[in-house]
Amino acid sequence: MINFKQEIAKEIAKATNLNEKELENYIEIPPDSNMGDYAFPCFKLAKELRKAPPMIANDIKGIIKLDSNLIEKMDVVGGYLNFYINKKALIKEVLEEMNKKKEEFGSSTIGEGKNIVIDYSAPNIAKPFHIGHLRSTVIGGALYNIYNFLGYHSIGINHLGDYGTQFGKLIEAYKRWGTEYDIDNNPIDELTKMYIRINQLCKEDEDVLNACRDNFKKLEDGDPYCTELWENFRKVSLEEFKKVYELLGSKFDSWNGEAFYSDKMGEVVELLEKTGKLIESEGARIIPLDDKNMAPCIIGKTNGSTTYATRDLAAILYRARTYDFYKALYVTSYEQILHFSQVFEVAKLLGLDPKYTDNLYHVPFGMVQLKNGKVSTREGNIIKLEDLLNESISRAKEIIEEKNPNLENKEDVAKKVGIGAIIFNDLSNSRIKDEIFDWDTILNFNGETGPYVQYIYVRTKSVLDKAGYLPKIEEIDFDLISDKESIAILKLLYSFGDVVKQAADKNEPSIISRFLIDLSQAFSSFYNEHHIIVDDKKVQDARLYLTYCVGTVLKTGAKLLGISMPDRM
Ligand code: ARG
Repeated sequence: MINFKQEIAKEIAKATNLNEKELENYIEIPPDSNMGDYAFPCFKLAKELRKAPPMIANDIKGIIKLDSNLIEKMDVVGGYLNFYINKKALIKEVLEEMNKKKEEFGSSTIGEGKNIVIDYSAPNIAKPFHIGHLRSTVIGGALYNIYNFLGYHSIGINHLGDYGTQFGKLIEAYKRWGTEYDIDNNPIDELTKMYIRINQLCKEDEDVLNACRDNFKKLEDGDPYCTELWENFRKVSLEEFKKVYELLGSKFDSWNGEAFYSDKMGEVVELLEKTGKLIESEGARIIPLDDKNMAPCIIGKTNGSTTYATRDLAAILYRARTYDFYKALYVTSYEQILHFSQVFEVAKLLGLDPKYTDNLYHVPFGMVQLKNGKVSTREGNIIKLEDLLNESISRAKEIIEEKNPNLENKEDVAKKVGIGAIIFNDLSNSRIKDEIFDWDTILNFNGETGPYVQYIYVRTKSVLDKAGYLPKIEEIDFDLISDKESIAILKLLYSFGDVVKQAADKNEPSIISRFLIDLSQAFSSFYNEHHIIVDDKKVQDARLYLTYCVGTVLKTGAKLLGISMPDRM
C-alpha cells in the first residue's frame, strides 16, 4: 500500500533539508479527522528558523508539491500544517490490498529471520492454575501471534514452576500426611490443601521449615524418593493445566520449566565466580547490586540450594545459545519487576554477546482483582481458572439461550463467546493496569467487549450471506463508498498494519483490542446509516465489499488476540 505519511515526509524533506526519517516521526495523526489525516507540527522548527510556527507552516505549504491524487488538500491551523488524503486513493489502496492479501491484510515481513523468545503462562506445579496466570497466558499468547504476523519467528516457552523450595514443602507434607489426601483423584485441590497446611506448620515451627529446605536440597541432589514424588506431582499437575490450555487454545514450543535447568546452574556459578563479583554474605552467595540501587541477587542459599534467579540466569544462557534470539520477553505480573531487573543486570556478567543481554524485556502486567479481593494460593482464597472458563461458557450459553434459542451449534458458539469474552477482557486495557474481574462487564454484548466484536463480525457475515455473493473488485465503483461512515472505516482498515506493529513495539496487545472496538463501532455507524442490500446493484457491490473487508480484519485481529469468531450467534 502507498505509505501516505512517507510521501508527505519525502516532500517536506525536499522543501526543508530536514531528514526524511525524522520527519516521519514528527508527523502526527490528528485526534479529530476534521483537522486532516496527518499533521506536521512546526513548533520544533521555530527556534532554529526564528519564525513563528504558523508562518513556517505557511511557507512549507507554499513550496511543497504533493500529488493531488494522493493528498487532496493542505491547510494551516495554528502551528500545524494539515494534510488530507485523497479519498479515492485511500479506497483504492485498501480494497486492492485486501483483494491481494485477504486474511493476511496487515501482515508484514519486517521480522524475517529474527527469533522472539516469549516466556509466558508458567504456572506452578502442584498449585492451581489460577486467574493470575490467565493474564500471562493470554498476553503472551497474543504477543506470540502478533510477532509471527509481522514475520518474526516466535518461540513460546512455558517456564513451569516445577522446582524450588515449595517442592521441599510438598514432600514434607506428603511424608507426614500423604495417606490422608486423595491425590490421585483430585490432585491439584488435594496438593493445595497439603501445601496450605504445611505452610501453616512452617510458620509455627522452624524445624519443619528446615526439614522442607532439606527435602529440596535432597531433590536437587537426586535422591530417588524425593525425585519420584516430584515427578508424580509434576505429571498430575500438567494433566490439569492442559485442560485449561485446551479451553484457551494455548500452544507452546517448549515446556522446559525450572527443573530443566537443575544441571545447568553450575556453569552460571562458575561464570559469575570468574568475575570476582560473587561474594559470600551471611552464608549465602550473592551478587551485590548496590550500584544499581537494587537489593542483591541471591545466587545460592545458605544451605547450598539454588534459587529462582539462578535458574533464570541458566535459562538466559540456554535460550541465547539455542534460539539466538533477537528479543526475549518475560510476561509476568509486576510483582516480579525487581526479580527481572536483578536477573537482567547479573546476566550482563555471563559473558554473552550484548546483543542478547541488551534485549531481555520484562513485560509486566497488573493484578487481577475479583470483586471480593486478591487471588492467592497461600491464603487459600482460590479461583481455579478451569472453573472460571467453564463458568464463562455456561453464562454465555444462558445469554444465547435467551437471545437466540434456535441457534445451531449452541455449544460451540457458547465456547467461542465465553472464552473470547475472558480473553478480550484481559487484553482490553493497557496491561500494566490492575483489572477488576466482573462478569457483567465481560459478557456485555453492547459494551467494549469480546462478545460485541464477535457480534459485529457475525453481522458482517450475515449481510454477505444474505447477498449470497462477494463482488469482484474490478466491478466496484470506488466513488460509492466515499461517504463519511465508509471513509471512517477505510481509514481504520488502512491503519491496521501500523496498529499491529505498534502492539509489537510496545508489547501491548490492548492496542489491537482498542482497534477492534473502534472498527466495530465504525461499522455499526455505517450499518445504521446505510442500507447494504439495496436495489442499486453498484451501490450494493461497493458496500458489500466494504463489509467483507471489515469482517476479514475483525477476524484477523481477533485471531491475533487468540479469539475465535463464531459464524453466527
Ligand atoms: N512460575 C512463575 C510464577 O508463577 C513465573 C515464571 C516466569 N518466568 C520466568 N522465567 N521466571 O510466578
